[in-house]
Amino acid sequence: MNEYDSDFLAQSMIQYGLFPVDDPNHADIVLINTCIVRAKPEQKALSFLGRMNAVKKRNPALILGIVGCLAQKEGVNLMKRFPQLDLVMGPRELAGIHEILKPLDSDRKKIVATKLDCGPAPRVHTPGYFEGRPTAHLCIMEGCNNFCSYCIVPHVRGREISRPSVEILEEAKALISEGVRDITLLGQNVNSYLSKENKGLNFPSLLCKISRLEGLWRLRFTTSHPKDLSEELIQCFREIPNLCPHLHLPFQAGSNRILKAMKRGYTRENYLELTTRLREVKPDIAITSDVMVGFPGESDKDFQQTLDLISQVEFDSLFSFKYSDRKGTVAEKLPAKIDEMEKASRLSILQALQREITLKKNKAFEGREVEVLIEGKSKKGDMLTGRTPSNKKVNFISDNNYFNSLAKVLIKDGLLNSLRGEAIKNE
Ligand code: 5AD
Ligand code: SF4
Repeated sequence: MNEYDSDFLAQSMIQYGLFPVDDPNHADIVLINTCIVRAKPEQKALSFLGRMNAVKKRNPALILGIVGCLAQKEGVNLMKRFPQLDLVMGPRELAGIHEILKPLDSDRKKIVATKLDCGPAPRVHTPGYFEGRPTAHLCIMEGCNNFCSYCIVPHVRGREISRPSVEILEEAKALISEGVRDITLLGQNVNSYLSKENKGLNFPSLLCKISRLEGLWRLRFTTSHPKDLSEELIQCFREIPNLCPHLHLPFQAGSNRILKAMKRGYTRENYLELTTRLREVKPDIAITSDVMVGFPGESDKDFQQTLDLISQVEFDSLFSFKYSDRKGTVAEKLPAKIDEMEKASRLSILQALQREITLKKNKAFEGREVEVLIEGKSKKGDMLTGRTPSNKKVNFISDNNYFNSLAKVLIKDGLLNSLRGEAIKNE
């Protein structure tokens, strides 16, 4: 979501007559887009702000802004703490960046924009911005109503609000016309998408509509909440040919006691049933997830249940985190906080288990042929790189393939973070 917001801000600034530079020392304006979902990205954002503050001291003409969730949470306090700041703007106000850029330029008043009850305002699209990019994100809804006990998101991104389907379809068409072939629909909880304008068009119906757009080869979405994953949505994996066989379905914990304290609204049994059903409907589906260790009160037995769930489901990959207190959430006030060392030890046990599973799954690809949407050169530059429909990264040798096109690749090695292979020559 932050990448999408950053792309939106960049497009707005280009429309305003600015252009990107590599070095902040050469910039006229620096906007720092922030995430505070966990303690670590928040610390990173603050230390980056400290660095940009120093740049501004050297160049007082620089317009320095902090945007996104940290801006929302701290508001005017940030201005007090960092007097060099010109702009503090929350995620819901981003669509108004044009209006904000103008006064900043002319009379340079400091601005704090942290309203939460606005939006979703129309997003501008700058023609040509996505040219040469085969993949893009598209936000369909913002905010969250779930209030999981550990989570800051509803507090800083506000309540759920769906964008009108007409606007979403227009944005998808614009992306496709620039060569984008793989679109990921975004929202904190895409399953609760509901278009007010379009007679209550729900998420599965929106998926069907977007999937039919000409030139769209691959469609994905993230993130889904297990409590809202309907049978109708599961059936979409069977019925929509260009819907990719990949689902990111965060489970967070494997113990019912902890899931209840997290206010997640499902049990481990519900979650296991969902993954079984998904694989019945779409046997080759890749399932990925988020999990955290060390939630307040998590006993060793609870943690073992998380490990057990991971072994049972065998996720294709997993984002795993140590729980961190977020100010103002219910979990922050819970007793029985887990020691940092214990959290680190649980995390490393969990990650070792997942590494084994990921490697086993990737090895199973050896000798198989996969379809790759080519994104560019690999990091080392000696191969091409891209992704399979199930979102596995593939690096491969090829002498006659082009970016933004599909290649058939024979997998030779299944590694921990990617697959490696050779393009199959066309007859
Ligand atoms: N501590 C640790 N991880 C968290 N997440 C959300 N809030 C917290 C927190 N307070 C994780 C969840 C979520 C992902 C985006 O970040 O796993 O799915
Ligand atoms: Fe946070 Fe829960 Fe909403 Fe996800 S569903 S954004 S974890 S409150």
